[in-house]
Amino acid sequence: MAEQLHISDTTDRAGRYRTLLPQLQALLAGETDPVANMANCCAALRQTFGFFWVGFYMVKGTGDEGQGTGELVLGPFQGDVACTRIAFGKGVCGTAWQRGQTIVVPDVDAFPGHIACSSSSRSEIVVPLLRDGAVIALLDVDSDLLDDFTQADRQGLEAVANIIAPLL
Ligand code: SME
Repeated sequence: MAEQLHISDTTDRAGRYRTLLPQLQALLAGETDPVANMANCCAALRQTFGFFWVGFYMVKGTGDEGQGTGELVLGPFQGDVACTRIAFGKGVCGTAWQRGQTIVVPDVDAFPGHIACSSSSRSEIVVPLLRDGAVIALLDVDSDLLDDFTQADRQGLEAVANIIAPLL
């Protein structure tokens, strides 16, 4: 397909996800390289919603690679420079990895252990990408607005995670 997104005119986020998801599926299905797909995924989300920061953290150094317990390492993203490594159970990302579940943080200052990569970030959502029941990466989206993420974002970003996880 052409590398171009049709972004719905609606300001309703659920409506925007409905328009975006099939386009994202088509865009990613045409490419086998994981970095290229993660990069375009970040760009598509930022273009569609104008999020402050969108990016992936990859689970690295787990048992398979013989390096112990592993950590998260920054992958493709769109936005300001960010912390490169996060330990298991640390911050919102490390906690979502530990739980294997999406975490929505309406106010980052109220989340114990939140890792502040940017002082402008006010709310955050982190969605795990699963393969065979194990977390292989996390999709992290930050907003510079308080309480910016709704059920529509949770459902939409979990759908994005399900599209991209098999391609990593
Ligand atoms: N806030 C995250 C760190 C990553 S940045 O937001 C890009 C956390 O607490 O894990």
